[in-house]
Amino acid sequence: MDPENCGRIGGMKVLIIGGAGYIGSHVARRFLDEGFRVCVLDNLSLGRRENLFAEAEFVEGDILDTATLESVLARGWDAVVHLAAFKAAGESMVKPEKYSVNNITGTLNILNAMVREGVKYFVFSSSAAVYGEPSYLPIDELHPTNPENYYGFTKLEIERFLSWYEKLKGIRFSALRYFNAAGYDPENRIRGLEKNPANLLPVIMEVAVGWREKVQVFGNDYPTPDGTGVRDYVHVTDLAEAHLQSLRYMMNTDKSLTVNLGSEQGISVLQMIETARRITGKPIPTEIVGRRPGDPAKLVASATLAGKLLGWKARFSDVDTLIRTAWNVYNQVSQKTGKSS
Ligand code: WQD
Repeated sequence: MDPENCGRIGGMKVLIIGGAGYIGSHVARRFLDEGFRVCVLDNLSLGRRENLFAEAEFVEGDILDTATLESVLARGWDAVVHLAAFKAAGESMVKPEKYSVNNITGTLNILNAMVREGVKYFVFSSSAAVYGEPSYLPIDELHPTNPENYYGFTKLEIERFLSWYEKLKGIRFSALRYFNAAGYDPENRIRGLEKNPANLLPVIMEVAVGWREKVQVFGNDYPTPDGTGVRDYVHVTDLAEAHLQSLRYMMNTDKSLTVNLGSEQGISVLQMIETARRITGKPIPTEIVGRRPGDPAKLVASATLAGKLLGWKARFSDVDTLIRTAWNVYNQVSQKTGKSS
């Protein structure tokens, strides 16, 4: 840990907390490509060192370590992007205390350090999990927020804190409600695989490379065309673009915003698996098992507001691109580690 290592002079400076993670590394890449001075703060509990870029400074630190946080924030930043959170919905229902401390207390530590150092702009990784069971589709930002899991609750509570910090301390925030993040950098510059993934696409990829035996399909008796769950998958490159656009929006308008980020397309579990078989050429065995508690049948976003406020539109989120870009990475890593199927 070397707080001196961050915040060097030159260009607009952004601190990306969680920038060694799956989404965070794509965000760091986008800000670097835009010419920002980037510093990544990450405790590497979920992030990977191989996701770090030579052009970005790096501090290994934890958002619960207020001394490190304060010394890094004291170096002066134009904005903070915060993606460091635990995100396993199922685990959050078994260990809520872990999510309270890391997601809520950790974020409050960041906000308090920002207030102390006069950093105004905060880009926050929120989630579609704030909505819970949909009462209508597609889901827009006016949809009721009734999270079904504690992870979604932590994200919604943080959004409420943000409104107070805006009112009382002049923070401007963008709360980006991701739907299902998927895919990898189309230019193949990010190779860090998620550790012990539970999400569908990385699970499919691990089966395709032979690290897992089969994909368990959590229920095929949903009221959907093929009976399996339908989700709105959005490419991480599209998500990264929205982080940059939302910062520019806040700087230009001095307003905060809360927007959905989704492709507006619903794809079923079996469609994902069939597409993966076609693109990878691998059999990808499956087993139909019971429904996973708390899973809605269908979740699809309305991203109209992000389009209106930011001019944002998903460009890489078609199912073939999602799977092809993920397969590029998994296949290369599995070849390199010799753990190929
Ligand atoms: C997708 C679909 C499963 C795995 C979660 C979080 C949400 C967000 C995204 C952070 C569902 C099915 C999955 C498997 C399966 N996280 N599935 N077999 O549950 O939509 O959303 O991740 O922001 O907050 O809740 O994503 O990838 O787990 O599931 O059949 O091995 O795939 O039932 O229909 P989910 P997921």
